[in-house]
Amino acid sequence: MKEYKIQLIPLKLNHLSTLAKWRNKDRIKNTMFNDNKITLFTTIMWHISNIRNANSQYFIIQDIDDNNLIGLIGLTNINFYNKTSELDIYIGEDNYLHKGLASDAFLQLKDYAKINLGLNRIKAYLFANNTIAFRFYNKLGFRVEGTLRNEILKNSEFKDIQIMAYKL
Ligand SMILES: CC(C)(COP(=O)(O)OP(=O)(O)OC[C@H]1O[C@@H](n2cnc3c(N)ncnc32)[C@H](O)[C@@H]1OP(=O)(O)O)[C@@H](O)C(=O)NCCC(=O)NCCS
Repeated sequence: MKEYKIQLIPLKLNHLSTLAKWRNKDRIKNTMFNDNKITLFTTIMWHISNIRNANSQYFIIQDIDDNNLIGLIGLTNINFYNKTSELDIYIGEDNYLHKGLASDAFLQLKDYAKINLGLNRIKAYLFANNTIAFRFYNKLGFRVEGTLRNEILKNSEFKDIQIMAYKL
């Protein structure tokens, strides 16, 4: 069986159509807080605002052997004073799921966050019913810090959000 190895490369304009395609998959869309329709245009606007705002840094998760694009990982709402950040992550290509690649991507990103950005904590906000994400974060060493009740309006329903955090 192929052993996948991944690398993180900074998100660029030429990745955005792939990103918009991934982001509109039900499997991914259902886990995201933003309910708006994602188009290539809104993805470009989002990317431009991230470039202007030094507080978000996104990376494509790429197969090191064949350069296939696998998913997205990013630090967002970086607070350099308090040394905190939030994590965004998804595997876009279904055939790369549950092969340890998102875990590898996080392990690479956390070293970057600690060594290059000097951060101290990374937080994850997830829907309380996202059991796959809960298991994923829990296995990586994130711990539950609390629940925000009825915090996000998703598909016309108020949903609970769980906050988990990782000490770097
Ligand atoms: C959460 C997500 C990023 C995990 O990616 P992945 O590369 O498949 O995860 P890994 O292979 O590194 O798995 C690590 C652990 O996560 C958990 N996990 C991953 N997929 C799982 C599944 N389908 N069912 C149950 N647990 C799962 C397991 O604990 C797993 O450890 P194990 O291999 O010993 O069982 C991926 O499922 C995804 O893209 N989900 C949609 C977006 C999302 O929910 N993002 C996070 C919240 S915003």
